[in-house]
Amino acid sequence: MVGFRVKDASLTEKGSLSIDWASRHMPVLKSIQGKFSVEKPLQGLHLAACLHVTKETAVLVETLESAGAEVALCGSNPLSTQDNVATALAAGGTHVYAWRGQTGEEYYHCIEDVLGFEPDITLDDGADLITTLHTEKTELLPRVIGGTEETTTGVLRLRAMAAEGALRYPLIAVNDAKSKNLFDNPVGTGQSALDGLIRATNILVAGKEVVVVGYGQVGSGIAERARGLGAKVTVVEVDPFKALKATMYGFKVTSLEKASTYGDIFITATGNVNVIRAKHIEMMKDNAILANAGHFDVEVCKPDLERLSVSQRRLNPCIEEYRMKNGSRLHLLGEGRLVNLACAEGHPSEVMDLSFSIQALSVEFLAENRGRLPVEVIDVPASVDEVVTRLKLEAMGVELEELTAEQREYLKSWRLGTA
Ligand code: NAI
Repeated sequence: MVGFRVKDASLTEKGSLSIDWASRHMPVLKSIQGKFSVEKPLQGLHLAACLHVTKETAVLVETLESAGAEVALCGSNPLSTQDNVATALAAGGTHVYAWRGQTGEEYYHCIEDVLGFEPDITLDDGADLITTLHTEKTELLPRVIGGTEETTTGVLRLRAMAAEGALRYPLIAVNDAKSKNLFDNPVGTGQSALDGLIRATNILVAGKEVVVVGYGQVGSGIAERARGLGAKVTVVEVDPFKALKATMYGFKVTSLEKASTYGDIFITATGNVNVIRAKHIEMMKDNAILANAGHFDVEVCKPDLERLSVSQRRLNPCIEEYRMKNGSRLHLLGEGRLVNLACAEGHPSEVMDLSFSIQALSVEFLAENRGRLPVEVIDVPASVDEVVTRLKLEAMGVELEELTAEQREYLKSWRLGTA
C-alpha cells in the first residue's frame, strides 16, 4: 500500500496557499480545531473519507488530524478534485488518493485504497464509499463504529439501505442538519452553480431564459441567484407544493417539454435520473447550454445526447459541444457532473464552515458514543446543530434577541387568549 496517489507534486505550495485562504473564512471549524488539538477526541482512530477534495475539505481533514485521527481521503467525484489541494495534503502526511479527471475505474480503485486503511469511522458524500464497504469489503465492517453522509442523494441511498435491512453501522445524516441544508444546499450551491456556469462559459446571464429543473433546497437557491443576475427564470417541478411555492415566489412554472422550446440555459438539481432526455433535447434551441448541480451525472441523459448528435467536440476544458441532427448545437458543461465543482471550486468556504463543523462534531459524537448508537440513519444531535449555528453567528458578529422569562412562560401556556 502506498501512502498517497496525486497528480503533480509541484503544486504543493499553491495548494497550501489555497488551504490557508479557505481556513481564514472558516472560523467555526478553526475554533473546533483548536479544541480538538488539546482534547484529542479521535486519538488513534482511522478515518476513511470520500469527499470532494477541495481547499475546504483540507481544513476539515486538518481538523480531524488535529484531534489525533489518521485520515485517508479520496474524491467523491471523478472531476471535482483540486489537484493542488490534494498534493498539499499529501505533503502534510494525509493519505490522499485523488486527482481531477479520473476514469470510473480509477475512482473506485481510490475508494478501495482508502478502505485499505481499515477505517473506524467513514465520512462520505454520495455514499459510494459506504456502499462499496457494504458490498465488496464486508470483512472490514465489524471494525466500523459509524459514519457520516454529507449530501441529499447519499442520505436517500442510506435510507434505502436501511429499509432493506442492509445497513451495518450507524450513519449520521449531516445533510439533514438545519445548519447544513438551510445554507449549504441553497446558498452554497446557488452561488457556486452560477459561478461554475460563468467560469465555464463567461456568458451574460442577464436577459437569458434560465430553466431550473427541481425546486428543492438546491434548485430554489439556483433559481434565486439566477434571478439576481437578471435572468428570466423558469422552474420545472413534479411536487405540487414546490411548484406552488415557486409560483408564489414569482417564478414561471411549466413542464420541461414547454421550457425546452425556449430555454437558453438548463440547470438540473433533482437528484433524479434522465430528467433531461431525448424528447427535450430534440426541442432545444441552437446554442442552448446544459448543466447539472445534482450529485450524479445522470440528470442530463448523456447517451441520448450522443445518440441524437452527429458530432462532438470540446470547446474548452468545461464545454462539450454536441452538433445535433437538426443542425442545432447543444453544450454540456463539466460532462454533466456537478457544475459548481467540475467547472468552479465548489461552495464558498464560509458555507462549508457550517457543513464541515457539523461533520467534525458528528465524528466526535460517533467516537464518544461507540457501541451505543442504533444501526440506522440518525440525525445530527440537535445540540451539535445549535452549537455550530451559534458559533457562526458569533463569528459573524450577529447578535440574537433573547426571550424574557414572561415570554417563555407565555409561549408554554394556553390560558391567555383574546384580551
Ligand atoms: P431536494 O429533495 O430538496 O430537491 C429535489 C427536487 O427535485 C424536489 O423538489 C423534487 O420534487 C424535484 N424533482 C425530482 N425529480 C424531478 C423531475 N423529474 N423533474 C422536476 N423536478 C424533480 O434535494 P436537494 O437537497 O435540493 O438536492 C438535489 C441534488 O443536489 C441531490 O442530488 C443532492 O445530493 C445534490 N447536491 C449538490 C450539491 C452541489 O454542491 N452541487 C450540494 C447539495 C446537494
